[in-house]
Amino acid sequence: MNKKEILKHFLITSMIGPIQAEFAYEKLMKMPEKGRLVDIGTGRGHSALLFALTKPKWTIYTIDGYGLYGTIQNVWNLQGKNEFNLSGIPAVRAFWQQHKVKNIIQVVGNSWEIGWELPADVIYIDADHSYQAVEKDVKKFVPFLKEDGLLMLHDYNNTYQVKSYVDKNMLDDWDIEEKDCLAVLTRK
Ligand SMILES: C[S@@+](CC[C@H](N)C(=O)[O-])C[C@H]1O[C@@H](n2cnc3c(N)ncnc32)[C@H](O)[C@@H]1O
Repeated sequence: MNKKEILKHFLITSMIGPIQAEFAYEKLMKMPEKGRLVDIGTGRGHSALLFALTKPKWTIYTIDGYGLYGTIQNVWNLQGKNEFNLSGIPAVRAFWQQHKVKNIIQVVGNSWEIGWELPADVIYIDADHSYQAVEKDVKKFVPFLKEDGLLMLHDYNNTYQVKSYVDKNMLDDWDIEEKDCLAVLTRK
């Protein structure tokens, strides 16, 4: 599938918007043909779909507690949306099936508590956006990021606390590039 065919699925209403999707796509295309990505915060499955289509030979692990853990689902529920509860599990599977992707492994659980022991080429964090939650996800998963791997964080802005955590704790050791509130970090 070419770039245009992939990116047409990521519009302004997507959980990973068009500018972010293109930015992530370009970064991923520079990476080896085979690899492993961890997508923390499956949500509607949009980011996992982007990664699965862009890197069809990679394995995409995607993790979500669907309303059982974290805080962001409460924010969405307050807005009258309920995607991030348990009904999201079959919905998101149907969405991936529609797109015929077969390289996604779905993990249902609390990202801070599930067992994790696999090295990763890319870690994408888009789960609970509180300062403490970002800290827990970073501290748990980043030790598994390969030396030349990419750490991506969604919603790197002042609306949530992703930016404040990263800016306070990571910039001495990591280079950062940002486009439309998607931050891509590489080790210095
Ligand atoms: C903004 S949404 C993710 C959107 C998703 N990346 C997409 O493209 O559709 C955030 C998700 O993180 C999940 N979440 C929040 N805290 C979590 C935690 N501690 N463990 C697992 N999932 C969590 C929520 O249930 C919610 O579905």
